Amino acid sequence: MKFFMPTKLYQESDCVARHSAEIAALGSRALIVTGRHSAKANGAYADVCQALDRAKIAHVLFDEVEQNPSIETVMKARDFGVENGVDFVIGIGGGSPLDAAKAIALMIKHQDQDRSYLYQKGADSSTLPIVEVPTTCGTGSEVTPVSVLTIHAEKTKGSIPHKIFADYALIDGKYLKSAPASVLHNTAIDALAHLWEALINIDADDYTHMCVAEGLRVWKRSKAVLLGERQATDEDFANLMNASSLAGMSIAQVGTTVPHGLSYPVTYNQHMPHGKAVGYFQAGYLAEADAADREEALTLAGFDSVDDYQNFYEALCGSDKLADADLEYAVDVLAGKPDKLKKVPYTCDREVLRRIAFYTK
Ligand SMILES: [Fe+2]
Repeated sequence: MKFFMPTKLYQESDCVARHSAEIAALGSRALIVTGRHSAKANGAYADVCQALDRAKIAHVLFDEVEQNPSIETVMKARDFGVENGVDFVIGIGGGSPLDAAKAIALMIKHQDQDRSYLYQKGADSSTLPIVEVPTTCGTGSEVTPVSVLTIHAEKTKGSIPHKIFADYALIDGKYLKSAPASVLHNTAIDALAHLWEALINIDADDYTHMCVAEGLRVWKRSKAVLLGERQATDEDFANLMNASSLAGMSIAQVGTTVPHGLSYPVTYNQHMPHGKAVGYFQAGYLAEADAADREEALTLAGFDSVDDYQNFYEALCGSDKLADADLEYAVDVLAGKPDKLKKVPYTCDREVLRRIAFYTK
């Protein structure tokens, strides 16, 4: 067994301000990587600027990371970072800016390389120092080595082969307070998906189980908030963030499996948000699983049955169904990825994949 998570993690209120000296020690000029709006709206960008200003560390902003960031965006940010002579990178946001920040930090470090380096297996994966500040509760990217980019040439998304952990993850539930309900819902379902796919996984062991079981217990505490049954408290926001990070630590060890694999072409072609897309395939994945695994997954998250989960999912994300042709395409794409299918702890041939994709209550 092996458990590797070298990122120094702090989770507390006013986390960025409290650790400004540690951030400042990483370099002399920071590239801050965000999406267009949310990092400014939720206060995280202002907190990071204030922390850097206090320590007299210069900073420049690249705020053009789109949903499902493309290789083109990474390269544009790389050029911007090189022009500005940055020596460390701070990602703020949901999965897209956090994933992009890792790839950008890689490409600035290897600034003589072209875009093909991103997908070059076996190449040096060293990067500039990285700080990640999550502002949604699903990606877990702040504690995973994963960076998923959109590959337009292949009309899908794919993880780069470089394994890149951040130096620091600074986690503060307050950044969730201004998140739209849809973002909270989609990302909380993504965290649940990470926990379940790490549980029902050929590589699951006692150490990943420690993160999965605790992640599901923490996630469950704030499930009622997601359903709108009560108002969220500060503790709920911290719970949702912690569940997401525990989920991230789980998939950092064992990776995701079939639902994530099916979701990528759906996200690319139908523009379905990541959490909604991975949540779409969870019921089918659970239904096919070993009964004991299924029971544990459902019970720890507070669901009575697969259909109880499906009802929860539809309450949060809607009950619209994907077209048969889109599901067939997702099955086709995943059927050609044996590495992903090997993660499933039961026989997962094309017929099983179809049953997962086409699952109905
Ligand atoms: Fe995910």
